[in-house]
Amino acid sequence: MKILVIGSGAREHAIVNALLRDEASHEIVVAPGNAGIAHVVETVSLNTTDGPLIAEYAAEQGVDLVIIGPEAPLVAGVANALRAVGIPVFGPDKAAAQIEGSKEFAKEIMNAARVPTGRSMSAATMAEVETALDEFGPPYVVKADGLAAGKGVIVTSDRTAARDHAEFFIHQGLVLIEEFLDGQEVSLFVLSDGDAVIALSPAQDYKRAFDNDEGPNTGGMGAYSPLPWLPEGFVDEIVETVAQPTIREMSRRGTPFVGLLYCGLIVTPKGVRVIEFNARLGDPETQVVLELLESSLADLLLATATGRLASVPEPVFANDVAVTVVLASEGYPESPHTGKPILGLADALEVPGVSIAHAATARDGDDFVSTGGRVLSVIARGADFTDARRRVYMALDRITLDGSHFRTDIAERVAE
Ligand code: AMP
Ligand code: GLY
Repeated sequence: MKILVIGSGAREHAIVNALLRDEASHEIVVAPGNAGIAHVVETVSLNTTDGPLIAEYAAEQGVDLVIIGPEAPLVAGVANALRAVGIPVFGPDKAAAQIEGSKEFAKEIMNAARVPTGRSMSAATMAEVETALDEFGPPYVVKADGLAAGKGVIVTSDRTAARDHAEFFIHQGLVLIEEFLDGQEVSLFVLSDGDAVIALSPAQDYKRAFDNDEGPNTGGMGAYSPLPWLPEGFVDEIVETVAQPTIREMSRRGTPFVGLLYCGLIVTPKGVRVIEFNARLGDPETQVVLELLESSLADLLLATATGRLASVPEPVFANDVAVTVVLASEGYPESPHTGKPILGLADALEVPGVSIAHAATARDGDDFVSTGGRVLSVIARGADFTDARRRVYMALDRITLDGSHFRTDIAERVAE
């Protein structure tokens, strides 16, 4: 198959690595990719939110499947442009991508589909913000309605900080104030062809910048999969109570969701609640989920894109576990320092079971340099979490990036 992958993060690098593991060999091109991806497959520089341009390129190249990694091209309607010229695409149309593009819209879908979620109020003025903050009390949860690259949410007991956050985003549109939910978070990826759904292995992401869940929210600092502490039948229950009703509601509205519904869940003492939907694979969760996937990723995604999900076998996952830790630049998430050499990658890859997915790297002669906040994900597979953690941190110890930081407690709670 000829496959075009859109995106430039560690998630897309992990997707490429999974496609390369397939028994069938594929011709893979990534737009725009990054230096790590360019090391393994062809990359092409294209404006990835320009639907007509991507469609023209894919048609010209005879692409059989387009996999859209990030949210921005989805929300911009790149999938629409591809479908319009008959190219199978893994990723929802613009209207369906609103489930991630607008938190207000996501709440509307959840309410219509009777999906369990936290109570929330939307505010268009600071007076409405104040009323909502009074209503819910601390800790305050304030969310920007639109896409904000992981920076749209604040959870704080400091009323001034909550108000300032709302004030910053209210100029760009609505702000949502939500009831605080306490519990363990679960990211569950669900494939949907608009009708049938298939869940992948659940993962847990670590959103805060520093150990012990301290510091600001980030795009994600690490993840592990599977989640041994989940009760029996959890995934089936979420498919029944969250994924299926949501997919049915999207179809009913004439905006079927084709691609990956990322269910961001929180397990509270009162039951499971959805805290967010995303319209794409999560980063860094993809790095661990795909590490364990034994079925052909290309077959699964093509079946999703072409309405044949009901006829594919349940995906098979290895019995191992996987842990990923993100290496972040000094100053991430506020103001990352970039342009620094990354040393020791080859030594890190010598650790058995370890792979590396690049996110923000560029080539400088034979070396790699950092170009953004989340620089790379180190991924380790092991027989158990103690084993996988030992490997991932051994590999990280071999990598040098001046001023960088990473969390040291990823998957600690599940290691014996
Ligand atoms: P979101 O972008 O909506 O996933 O929010 C980012 C992070 O903020 C989540 O992963 C949670 O850690 C936290 N968060 C979001 N909503 C809530 C909530 N209602 N209660 C507690 N924490 C939340
Ligand atoms: N890791 C969270 C996300 O991808 O949105």
